Amino acid sequence: MKIFKNNESMGAWSNAMHKAGETIALVPTMGYFHDGHLSLMKIGREAESRMAVSIFVNPAQFGANEDLDAYPMNIERDLELAENIGADAVFMPDKEEIYPNGYQSYVTLKYLPGHLCGISRPTHFRGVATVVTKLFNIIKPDTAVFGSKDYQQLQIIKQLNKDLNFGINIVGAPIVRETDGLAMSSRNAYLRPEERESALSLSRSLEKAKKMVASGTTKSSIVKEHIREYIEGFEHTEIDYISICDPETLDDMETIDKPALLAMAVQVGRARLIDNTILVNLNICPE
Ligand code: PAF
Repeated sequence: MKIFKNNESMGAWSNAMHKAGETIALVPTMGYFHDGHLSLMKIGREAESRMAVSIFVNPAQFGANEDLDAYPMNIERDLELAENIGADAVFMPDKEEIYPNGYQSYVTLKYLPGHLCGISRPTHFRGVATVVTKLFNIIKPDTAVFGSKDYQQLQIIKQLNKDLNFGINIVGAPIVRETDGLAMSSRNAYLRPEERESALSLSRSLEKAKKMVASGTTKSSIVKEHIREYIEGFEHTEIDYISICDPETLDDMETIDKPALLAMAVQVGRARLIDNTILVNLNICPE
């Protein structure tokens, strides 16, 4: 497995691969791998003949009071896991390589970032869209794989790919959960033992909502109120948002009369956790 720390050597590897008739899958990450990342890499490895993984804790996607400095890292372990799973290359640039002195170009989208996480994190998706654009330009992947726990991020990247004509096959991978249902996240490392039960309120509330909708509740406000009360019943939780919205546009849906995205962000102790699922009203959309 090759390790590249600068744009030129990473780009040269990609060009050489393409010249040799290989195709490249990219798995962009911020490191501190868990099984969710490994599932993305397995998909990447199957999708194309070569796989590159990027590890870069992107400062541009963290707000001033967020956890950039505390973000967990374990590069040696990450490299070992990437190699074991069959990565051909790892791109791990430093901050200056991606944002050199005098850097001034950023990528913004008009509508999608104005919803869900973008409301309390107003500069987050500008940072994500910028770094992903740069990674696409440097590595020129044929496929890029992203997790669907960050559902809004995935939608934004699909839109960016379309709007800016990258022509990359964007793959959204299913959420990977711990055995107790907690969606895997590098930020779960912040949870103290006494906060773990509270963290489970997210995935459990998704299940409750699914049942309510499957058995006929169609008013979004009723579903949202029910799970808000449920989550607030746990100590250490502070809800940022609970949204039931159109899975494409992310616009609020008042009535669940077609498949709807239920997405939420909840602060549990130091960890800001997100989770989501698709709600289907079986009377209206029989399986
Ligand atoms: O999902 C992530 O880990 C990051 O947002 C990404 C896509 C690697 C961009 O920094």
